[in-house]
Amino acid sequence: MSAALAENFQQGWADTGLQLPLVPGAAFAAKRRAALSERFPGERIVIPSGGLKARSNDFDYTFRPHSAFIHLTAEQGTQAVPDSVLVFEPLGNGHEVTLFTRPRSPRDGGPNGAEFYSSRRHGEFWVGRRRTLTETSDAFGLAAAARDDLERALAGRVPTRVLRGEDELVDALVPPAREAEAELLTFLSELRLVKDEWEVEQLRTAVGSTVAGFHDVVGELRTATGLARGERWIEGTFNRRARLDGYGLGFETIAAAGAHACVLHWMHNDGPVRDGDLLLLDAGVEADSFYTGDVTRTLPVSGRFTDVQRRFYDLVFAAQSAGIATLRPGARFGDFHDAAMRVIAEGLDAWGLLPGGDDPLAADSALYRRFTVCGSGHMLGLDCHDCGAARSEAYLDGVLEPGHVLTVEPGLYFQPDDLTIPEELRGIGIRIEDDFLITDDGALCLSADLPRGADEVEAWMASLR
Ligand code: GLY
Ligand code: MN
Repeated sequence: MSAALAENFQQGWADTGLQLPLVPGAAFAAKRRAALSERFPGERIVIPSGGLKARSNDFDYTFRPHSAFIHLTAEQGTQAVPDSVLVFEPLGNGHEVTLFTRPRSPRDGGPNGAEFYSSRRHGEFWVGRRRTLTETSDAFGLAAAARDDLERALAGRVPTRVLRGEDELVDALVPPAREAEAELLTFLSELRLVKDEWEVEQLRTAVGSTVAGFHDVVGELRTATGLARGERWIEGTFNRRARLDGYGLGFETIAAAGAHACVLHWMHNDGPVRDGDLLLLDAGVEADSFYTGDVTRTLPVSGRFTDVQRRFYDLVFAAQSAGIATLRPGARFGDFHDAAMRVIAEGLDAWGLLPGGDDPLAADSALYRRFTVCGSGHMLGLDCHDCGAARSEAYLDGVLEPGHVLTVEPGLYFQPDDLTIPEELRGIGIRIEDDFLITDDGALCLSADLPRGADEVEAWMASLR
């Protein structure tokens, strides 16, 4: 870069003013910050967004902030700024909260004067317009400061807890405090268990787009059957919807035809989609607010289940229905799993698929689990498997409360190489998954627009072909 060009770059730019929308969920995020402040009085709390991760050489993965950071700011999709850090500084009875971030690149010289045209990772010529500090402050309803000032802000001997492992500078500046940090992580995770009305709206949006993606896929099934890697066509069709409607995917799309459906997290998606086989599609659109749907349907590629497929589809359907029927405030989180597994175990036993002798359904043997090894559902929110650091008494061994959002997704998987079952069953994998909001007196299915029973699935597919 010649000195003349560098100097030339510093002049002649119009003041473009505010072009970025305000953050719509900011008022709800403020309440969450208040809860965090109340829990840790007198301590400094540091929540980094995380930064860019190299994919190869000088290209990065798409940036996605840490879910705790999103929850406390309501930051949205493409506007998220890598290396942002939320600092709760103890003040009086509470905290003053500042969002340290990378403001828009200055164009009038100064220490960062070359960034806008020379920094491939952060320059506005390369990555687009960011908010100024004033715009950041207005958008979030928070004090905003430049990340360059972070080191100064974290100086001084104040008891400090950080969300560790997300930001190298923060980790280096604050000495580790294992127990205190684990306690913070647990609190942040449990703070997300009950969704507020804004979060429920985001989840409705995400699930609505997810349902639309399933419609898209059924419309493309015929094309997929003509391709060597038809599963990729299915994946691409769903992923197009995810990018069109939302920020992207809540998790990598599972497009599993035939025996691939027996691989619980099949993500290679490089197989054919054949008439006569089942296609298991487990997918979720992540909305611009980063909340995600998570839905599974197992579809007959031809549009009609065979007798054998339908028999086992109906069993999984009955299991899921039994699980759904348990959902209400006060029910144990484990109830829906237990109810679904009882139906599956009894069905398999009735068809003679379990070994004789000791009670194959007894909890201490549970031999039916050879065919259904995973759990039957999980909390859903910013993470597909949400609230993963919650204590077991608050989640897995806890009870359901209004505002919880969770999946119910029992499955049945007959591995293609399982010699203990009749040949005609080998390679059949079925999972049905829907998303539920626990209400004051029961549960609301957020994915109810997607047909679920075998007859409804066939009628729906016929209508789209
Ligand atoms: N949908 C992926 C999972 O729940 O594991
Ligand atoms: Mn799931």
